[in-house]
Amino acid sequence: MCGIVGYVGQRSTAQVVLGGLARLEYRGYDSAGIAIITPGNALVSHKRAGKLSVLRDDLATNPLLDGTTGIGHTRWATHGPPTDNNAHPHLGDEGKLALIHNGIIENYELLKRELVEQGETFHSDTDSEVVALMLGREYRDTHDVSTAMQRVVARLEGAFTLLAVHANQPGVVVGARRNSPLVVGLGEGENFLGSDVAAFVAYTDKAMAVGQDQIVTITPDSVTVVDFEGKPANATPFTVDWDASAADKGGWSSFMAKEISEEPEAVANTLRGRVGAGGIVTLPELDAVLGDSVSISRIIFIACGTAAYASMLGAYAIEKWSGIPATVELSHEFRYRDPVVDASTLIVSVSQSGETMDTLMAVRYAKEKGATTLSICNTQGATIARESDAVLYTYAGPEVAVASTKAFLSQVVATYLLGLYLGQHNDRVSAELSAQLAQDFEDLPDQLEEMVQTGARIKELAGWMADTRSVLFLGRHVGYPVALEGALKLKELAYIHAEGFAAGELKHGPIALIEPGQIVFVVVPSPRDPSSLHAKVVSNIQEIRARGARVIAIAEKADAAVLPHADEVIAVPFASTFMEPLLAVVPLHIFGMELAAAKGLDIDQPRNLAKSVTVE
Ligand code: F6R
Repeated sequence: MCGIVGYVGQRSTAQVVLGGLARLEYRGYDSAGIAIITPGNALVSHKRAGKLSVLRDDLATNPLLDGTTGIGHTRWATHGPPTDNNAHPHLGDEGKLALIHNGIIENYELLKRELVEQGETFHSDTDSEVVALMLGREYRDTHDVSTAMQRVVARLEGAFTLLAVHANQPGVVVGARRNSPLVVGLGEGENFLGSDVAAFVAYTDKAMAVGQDQIVTITPDSVTVVDFEGKPANATPFTVDWDASAADKGGWSSFMAKEISEEPEAVANTLRGRVGAGGIVTLPELDAVLGDSVSISRIIFIACGTAAYASMLGAYAIEKWSGIPATVELSHEFRYRDPVVDASTLIVSVSQSGETMDTLMAVRYAKEKGATTLSICNTQGATIARESDAVLYTYAGPEVAVASTKAFLSQVVATYLLGLYLGQHNDRVSAELSAQLAQDFEDLPDQLEEMVQTGARIKELAGWMADTRSVLFLGRHVGYPVALEGALKLKELAYIHAEGFAAGELKHGPIALIEPGQIVFVVVPSPRDPSSLHAKVVSNIQEIRARGARVIAIAEKADAAVLPHADEVIAVPFASTFMEPLLAVVPLHIFGMELAAAKGLDIDQPRNLAKSVTVE
């Protein structure tokens, strides 16, 4: 969590840093701050609790002296509440050094005690301030921020990205990272640092991902990378394929509205060039590690939240198409239960950000156990992608709204591509099925566009439900992850109680929740589906309706069996079983957004959340 920006160059540092923070605000929005080295070699800084707009408003009336070197931070609070004092930067060396931090310093209490004994005074409740004070002390000894940083990181435990500037070293920003992300933006006569490329993509598309346990020093004309011992090291260069406008709202009322409208494109882009004649899937990025897929005895997906629901659909499809047993585990549960993982296990991590700490740690654990690791990721150069044996990128483009939408759809199709690829390699997928799925993929973007158009009706429904205190979601088989996803969106966006249930589980307990007026969304399988689930789900609808539930069914257009039993039907075009959930989820994404809007809530930045969860 937390967004971090650093800049050296001839532009207005205040503008570059505040602009970068605006693009990174989705990472945390409890408080924000900036520090600049002025042309007279003074360090000036300002920080405020609240959203970035609070800081910006302050600076509009009382601007800081601008300069050519600066850092900025937008915070997701871990240690200490979101107050002005706890906001970053924190200062050291009697106000001449400024430091920003993303992550958690696990041994900060011990370090703090030492610093207090040495006579240092603390002004915040944060773990980060210990680093500022330690750096200040080491700077006084070394007169070089990079050398001071080497000494300090040697004493830190936990996860951190750190950026620091010192008034006596204008034109220099030093960064360090362990378990938290840091990328360099390479310019002409200027360089940038950011938690991710969104910080600088408006200025350059040339980037370098700083590796684990590396320290980077940028000046206007140089980028130097060393490891924590000070030995020369290499960061990984890459070209950013997002343009700056992709991360702009582009006239939409919220990023989430824009990103839902981009769901068809996200799916089309993720499929593009990967499905050839007869539905043969080509994924050259996987060939080296998965070409010989017969050696895989099982697949475990690891992911959190929405990405875990996408993984469930992937596991269902992969097991069906390739015959390889596939399951899903929440990353944060996985490694703590001593799972059986060996060289024949394929671990597939699914992560939009590629930085989710729980997932990263699970990937590292699996690697230690000898498993093959594959990352399905939306963010180029992300840590999980770099640390995995292979990466299958989704091409959803930048997702800025905290609630994941288009990334979910692109993750699902990426897992489907993986399933087909494996099934075709081990000859379990027939030519007919390959051809049918190729046709399904081709139809998908237009069908999704149709679903995006349900927005006006969903908005009306959300309008009359604004006072609702609880909504339930039911689904079965591929409809179950959709139910979970619908409920998660409602919790995080509209702050109301919402639960997703497997429809078959209803009679084992949850049906007791049904009382007159309870709103229940039901994801109904197609009546043409070869399984007999349609009739079972229609029976479930009747059971809850008989107990007074108000049913909103998401059902196939011509599904006459549902009409008599539902208060409202959201029609979905006919699609094959594995495409249905992709269509059914769109109105639920819209519903979460519209209910939040009807309640006057912040759609893009829901309370207590952050986009990338880079702490455990
Ligand atoms: C929900 C949501 C989260 C993320 C989860 C994993 O709308 O966005 O549940 O899906 O935090 O994030 P990534 O995919 O970045 O690992």
